[in-house]
Amino acid sequence: MQDDIRAEAAQYYDANPTIPDDLAFYTARLPSADAAVLELGCGTGRVLLPLAAACGSIYGLDRSPAMLARCVQKLQAAGMPPAKARAERGDITHFVLGRQFDVIIAPYRVFQLLETDLQVEGLFRCVRAHLAPGGTCILNVFHPRGGFERVRQEWERATEVCLWETTVDGVRLRCDELTLSRFMVYCASHERRHHIWPVYGSPTCSPAPRSSWISRA
Ligand SMILES: C[S@@+](CC[C@H](N)C(=O)[O-])C[C@H]1O[C@@H](n2cnc3c(N)ncnc32)[C@H](O)[C@@H]1O
Repeated sequence: MQDDIRAEAAQYYDANPTIPDDLAFYTARLPSADAAVLELGCGTGRVLLPLAAACGSIYGLDRSPAMLARCVQKLQAAGMPPAKARAERGDITHFVLGRQFDVIIAPYRVFQLLETDLQVEGLFRCVRAHLAPGGTCILNVFHPRGGFERVRQEWERATEVCLWETTVDGVRLRCDELTLSRFMVYCASHERRHHIWPVYGSPTCSPAPRSSWISRA
């Protein structure tokens, strides 16, 4: 697995006020209170932890040790038994857990962090192997309006833009779009800065290739 690009950003991930308010969406899609859930790219446990209270069990996979460390820390602090909720290191494009789940989710655009067809095919192969008959898989995606060129122009600004500021433990954190300063906090910017072309030019942004991947899976 590659180096942990979230090694530093992980500590600020939960402080980002622009993170989606999607918990009710996932909770409403649980088929029963004892459903077994798999979260692909569980990160710091933002969804995994609260969703654990609404399902039978939840298992999270993530490749970032820093994000996982925070998730595990939160699970322990909440006194969550491993049989109910656990998170482990793994690649969501290549894993074998030896069991199936009623629901598989990948909140907050995790699917669009995959950069190659091989990775996308791998993810769908793993989903097919781990989804129980009649189960549901939900992959959250961002579909840019106006096409790739417009997105590129909007996101590559000539001047620095402050997206948000907040204070955590007395430290003021600022999120800038163009510069990486000591207090810049922008987890997704690691991807955005280094992978803007593959991610936003990627076929994972367009409905047609997505449908063909799903039908082949
Ligand atoms: C934007 S965060 C989303 C975290 C969480 N799902 C949430 O909604 O808060 C993306 C996460 O996906 C993980 N990720 C990206 N590609 C991955 C891969 N191939 N295998 C496992 N995890 C991956 C990253 O390490 C990161 O924690």
